Amino acid sequence: MEKNESKILIFGGTGYIGSYMVKASLKLGHPTYVFSRPNSNKIEILNEFQSMGAIIVKGIVDEHDKLVSVLREVDVVISVLPYPQVLDQLKIIEAIKVAGNIKRFLPSDFGVEEDRVTVLPPFEAFLEKKKKVRRATEEANIPYTFVSANCFGAYFVNHLLRPYEQNEKITVYGSGEAKALLNYEDDVGILTIKVATDPRTCNRVVIYRPPANIISQLELISLWEKKTGRRLNKVHVPEEEIVALSQTLPHPQNIPISILHSIFIKGVTTNFDLDDHEVEASALYPDLKLTTIDELLDIFLCNPPAPAFAAFE
Ligand SMILES: NC(=O)c1ccc[n+]([C@@H]2O[C@H](COP(=O)([O-])OP(=O)(O)OC[C@H]3O[C@@H](n4cnc5c(N)ncnc54)[C@H](OP(=O)(O)O)[C@@H]3O)[C@@H](O)[C@H]2O)c1
Repeated sequence: MEKNESKILIFGGTGYIGSYMVKASLKLGHPTYVFSRPNSNKIEILNEFQSMGAIIVKGIVDEHDKLVSVLREVDVVISVLPYPQVLDQLKIIEAIKVAGNIKRFLPSDFGVEEDRVTVLPPFEAFLEKKKKVRRATEEANIPYTFVSANCFGAYFVNHLLRPYEQNEKITVYGSGEAKALLNYEDDVGILTIKVATDPRTCNRVVIYRPPANIISQLELISLWEKKTGRRLNKVHVPEEEIVALSQTLPHPQNIPISILHSIFIKGVTTNFDLDDHEVEASALYPDLKLTTIDELLDIFLCNPPAPAFAAFE
C-alpha cells in the first residue's frame, strides 16, 4: 500500500475524535469517505468536510448490501463509532468479510491498551465489548491495526484543569502521582492516518506513547500554575472513595469514574513495557513533530479548545 494512495472510509467521522481523523486524512492527501447516518445532526461539519473534498456516504450499519458496495470502493476502514455503538462494528466486520478487498481495518479502540490492562469492573465490561470486536476482526482474518491512543490531550486537560471555569478548587484523583499519557487530538488524527496506511503496522497493536507526553496530575497542575500565575487549591479524592463510587453509581455513570481510577490512580497508560507485537507510534515517525504537553497548555492559554462533553461530570 503506497502512502497517499489509500482510499479511507471513516465511520463516526463527524464525532469528537473522528473529525480530527477526517481532516488528517484529507491533509495527507487520501481520498476520504465519511459514513454518516441519514438523521445525523452534524450538518455543519458534514458541509465543511464536503467543501474540503470528502465524500459523504449516508447510511446505517444495518444496511449490509450498501455497506459492502461502499467498502468495495475503498482500501482502509477506520471506525470511531462511540462507545454505545461498539458492537455495531460486528456488522461492519461482516460486510468487510463479504467485500473481501479491505487492506486494513482499525476498530474503534483509541483509549487504553485494552488487551493489557487490569481495571475496575465497570470499565472492564466496557473494554470487554471492544475486545470482542478485536477478536472478531482477527478471526475473520481481516488485516488490522489496533490502536491505543491513550488520553485525548485537550479532552483530559479540560476535565482535569477546568481552564474554562477559573475555579481555584481542583480535584486530584488519589495522590496525583501516577503517570498518565496525554496526546493532543490533532496528533491522534495524523498518527492514526499514518498507521492505517503503514505496512509496518499491519496486524500489530500501535500504542501512542511519546515520551514528552507522560505526566502526573500533580506535574500538570504545577505546570499550569506556572503558566497562568494562579495558585490552585488541590482537593484529593482518596482511592477508596473512587472505588466505592464505581460500586454504587448506576450504569453508565460508574464507567467514567472507573476510567479515571485506572488512568490517574493505577497509571494504566504507562505502567507496562511494550511487547514484540506492540509498536510505539512516535518511534515510527521520528521526523513528525508532535505536540508536547507544555505546548498543549500554551494552546489552552491562547485559544482554549472547548470542553468535549459531559462524559466525566
Ligand atoms: N482516549 C480518549 O481519551 C477517548 C475519549 C473519548 C472517546 N474515546 C474513544 O474514541 C472513540 C470515538 O468516540 P467519540 O467520543 O469521538 O464518538 P462520538 O463523538 O460520540 O460519536 C462519533 C460519531 O458516531 C456516529 N454515530 C453512529 N451511531 C450513533 C448513535 N447511535 N448515536 C450517536 N452517534 C452515532 C455519529 O456520526 P453521524 O451523526 O455522522 O452518524 C457521531 O458523530 C470511541 O472508541 C471512544 O471510546 C477515547
